[in-house]
Amino acid sequence: MIKLTEQQQEDLAAQIFQSRKYRGLNIPLATVQNLLTQEADKHSSTRALVKAVRHKMHNIVAPYLGDPEYSMAERCLQKAFDKHDPAEVRLACSRLMGAHASTRERLPVLQEFYDAIFSTIGRPSVILDLACGLNPLAYPWMNLPLSTQYWAYDLHQPRVDMLNRYFGLQGLQPLARHQDILVEPPQIEADVAFFFKEAHRFEQRQRGCNRAFWQAVNSRMLVVTLPAVSLTGKHQLADQQRNLVYTTIDDLPWHVTELCVGTELIFCIEKGYGAKKE
Ligand SMILES: C[S@@+](CC[C@H](N)C(=O)[O-])C[C@H]1O[C@@H](n2cnc3c(N)ncnc32)[C@H](O)[C@@H]1O
Repeated sequence: MIKLTEQQQEDLAAQIFQSRKYRGLNIPLATVQNLLTQEADKHSSTRALVKAVRHKMHNIVAPYLGDPEYSMAERCLQKAFDKHDPAEVRLACSRLMGAHASTRERLPVLQEFYDAIFSTIGRPSVILDLACGLNPLAYPWMNLPLSTQYWAYDLHQPRVDMLNRYFGLQGLQPLARHQDILVEPPQIEADVAFFFKEAHRFEQRQRGCNRAFWQAVNSRMLVVTLPAVSLTGKHQLADQQRNLVYTTIDDLPWHVTELCVGTELIFCIEKGYGAKKE
């Protein structure tokens, strides 16, 4: 077990941020501080601690899932909106979503995906998209009015900046936020919170953290999705993903409607009025 002073924590965070893969991403300092505190209990040398935190960071930021080139992405969006043709906007959004594995996998069934969700939970006026990645670019497939408040959260600064640019062009309020949602859960009251393809990764970051996080989110409906097959397509994951969801909500009086679209399991969770606060 290591006890770090504030200064030592800052120095180690700076060392971790120096890595080329995090340069320019402006990952919140709170994320690394949270990992250093959590992992310090498990290691007896600073070297082992830094190694463990680097490993966690790699899974959280997940550069291997892919990215568009962000300044080019903004130019493509601008060009598409300049044409005043919704088909051009959809084309630009789908191309950009194709650059990240989570949204790419959803592209062939995007319309079906949102139709299935909204016919189950109704049409929301206020959305939280938690750990959003590039998913807010799917707004044109959601058939929601421009009065919708679409709050989107990610810890990757260029992604958040590009999303706010997109929201502005689309005529939505620029409500993308650069924030670590586990360290600082959003306080906005919403009709629905999307938490797509991230709950299993939260478990890898901090086992069991989903329960308190889902309870903290201020939304009546929570839509959690998880991949039914692994990234490589080789492993069936449905049983373990269901187990994650039902273990997380365990004795809470929450009602779940399960859907499956393409290779994505969708859990529409209604947080009951009697939900316990811990
Ligand atoms: C696996 S991708 C899923 C993206 C999106 N939800 C989707 O399904 O299309 C995870 C995203 O969550 C972001 N992320 C991971 N941990 C986060 C956290 N604690 N707070 C905010 N964003 C986070 C990552 O930067 C990445 O963009």
